[in-house]
Amino acid sequence: MITSKELREKWIKFYEERGHVNIGAVSLIGDGTTGVMFNVAGMQPLMPYLLGKKHPKGTKLCNVQGCVRTVDIDSVGDATHFTFFEMMGNWSLGDYFKKEKTKWSFDLLTQVFGFDKDKICSTVFEGNDAVPRDDETAGYLKELGIKPENIFYLDKSNNWWELEGTVGTPCGPDNEWFYPRHDNPCCDTCDVNCDCGRYVEIGNDVYMQYKKLDGGKYEELENKNVDTGFGLDRLLLFLNGLDDGYKTDLFAGAIKCLEEKSGKAYGQDEKDTKAMRIIADHTRTAVMLIGDANGITPSNTGAGYILRRLLRRAIRYCKNLGIDATTMCDVAKIFIEKIYDEAYPLLLEKEGYILEEILKEIKKFEATLAAGMKEFDKCIIGMERKNAFMSQKDPNYVPETEISGKQAFRLYDTFGYPLELTVELAEEKGLTVDQKGFEEAFKAHQELSKAQAQAAKGGLTEQSEKTIKYHTATHIMLAGLRKMFGTNTEQKGSNITEERLRFDFNCDHKMTEEELKELENFVNDVIGKGIDVVREELPYAKAVEQGAYGVFNADSDDQIVSVYTIDGVDKQICGGPHAKNTKELGTFVIKKEESSSSGVRRIKAILK
Ligand code: ALA
Repeated sequence: MITSKELREKWIKFYEERGHVNIGAVSLIGDGTTGVMFNVAGMQPLMPYLLGKKHPKGTKLCNVQGCVRTVDIDSVGDATHFTFFEMMGNWSLGDYFKKEKTKWSFDLLTQVFGFDKDKICSTVFEGNDAVPRDDETAGYLKELGIKPENIFYLDKSNNWWELEGTVGTPCGPDNEWFYPRHDNPCCDTCDVNCDCGRYVEIGNDVYMQYKKLDGGKYEELENKNVDTGFGLDRLLLFLNGLDDGYKTDLFAGAIKCLEEKSGKAYGQDEKDTKAMRIIADHTRTAVMLIGDANGITPSNTGAGYILRRLLRRAIRYCKNLGIDATTMCDVAKIFIEKIYDEAYPLLLEKEGYILEEILKEIKKFEATLAAGMKEFDKCIIGMERKNAFMSQKDPNYVPETEISGKQAFRLYDTFGYPLELTVELAEEKGLTVDQKGFEEAFKAHQELSKAQAQAAKGGLTEQSEKTIKYHTATHIMLAGLRKMFGTNTEQKGSNITEERLRFDFNCDHKMTEEELKELENFVNDVIGKGIDVVREELPYAKAVEQGAYGVFNADSDDQIVSVYTIDGVDKQICGGPHAKNTKELGTFVIKKEESSSSGVRRIKAILK
């Protein structure tokens, strides 16, 4: 059995011996520049350097970087999906290229992990109109001794790596490494392309030579870079001959704790196993997000909202498993003290705080649930009374067994009960829920809040071309403030007239002359660049995931919201309207900065 700690060590040692500097992991919370909320790939913090900026630690780097991906949250509960994972990476910033990289990946697999070279498969880019077939990499692979029949040329959907949904980011063709789990092909044509699951992707070497531009175009970078990513969690699984990620040492302690508390065995009952996985996974990610260097706490907006969703989902599954939700604190302790104590020492330092935040959210959610429980009981009692009364009157009366969609929606809307919770509670009583009726009530409510949002128009007292421009100016200004003072800077109030904008935001000090100048320059710079202001409609959860923020509480993850993006500057959930392009705004001049209330500053500014 190889442990996660040993694997991290082996990775770093191997690349340090080959001249790389371990740069360590950075915060999991994105800095807002790439439009994604969390670090979703090991290369993300290195983006500026892959694009050409000089890195202070040199041109050969390595680390093990935590990543958070919550797009697949609904798949968590199976054996191989996680919301947090670690990427073992190494980079050449315009230093070595394909010859060295293929050899090192090959040596690592064969010499450190003992893989049989005759079984290793490797895929390379088959080429397209813009980029030629990667014969160079294939040539090196053959020289190393990989069998020619184990080298596959695949298209862009397989052998090209880029950060989806972004522009201006580095990307390129990649070389992926595969290894079979066992020697029994499922059919005559079973190879890396087969979806029987025999071949596992072990790692990925990306040759980042391109910059992704708007409209699906690519521009050659000055530097030829290498970006390598080997998923620690998956490799750990594979090296230990397991097919369930919750059986590695990363999760073994957490699962054991959940088994003890629930008196149930992992792997026996499907529902219980799923619950244990969700509790373990979500608690781990929550620990990482709260205990991060730029740690966050549960809230109703932005990253805090995603954290809240994770915690509340875990709390619900504690209920399903029949354990007290405070068990999540015991699980958290195992991760902090036993599993990530060396790789993430900050967690130990912040342990008290992390546990307290988890506990606070458990209490909050339980209070919400308890309030809803009374309402739920009322529904049931009402139904029972009606049934008793009607049966007396009419011997042929068929008793009701369904909670109406309206009632389920009220539980959701007023008490925060997710539909699935109401369905589960109803099932326990032998009842059903009119789910279609729920959807209808939900939609009707959505239409209403959309109409209300339109009417509110984010602080606009009247709408004219001028006030619309001022509104766009507040977005750019807030983006500037967040850049200067951090992304916890939020709008606390806005009032716009034909003559000026007035904007309140949280800030712990009176802004200096220099800061005001910097802000003014920032806004005028963005105006000068003539950037389009683009509106789109997205489900709330998706908008938040893409880094959109705003003074707005959605009723649900699926609620459609309007998002305004000024590319590279700002992304806000907002009813609008806005100028079409920043160049329409003119010149931004700050007239006054003053206190509005405790911890809140007020800026008055005009557009000339
Ligand atoms: N950036 C590459 C990946 O995430 C290595 O697979």
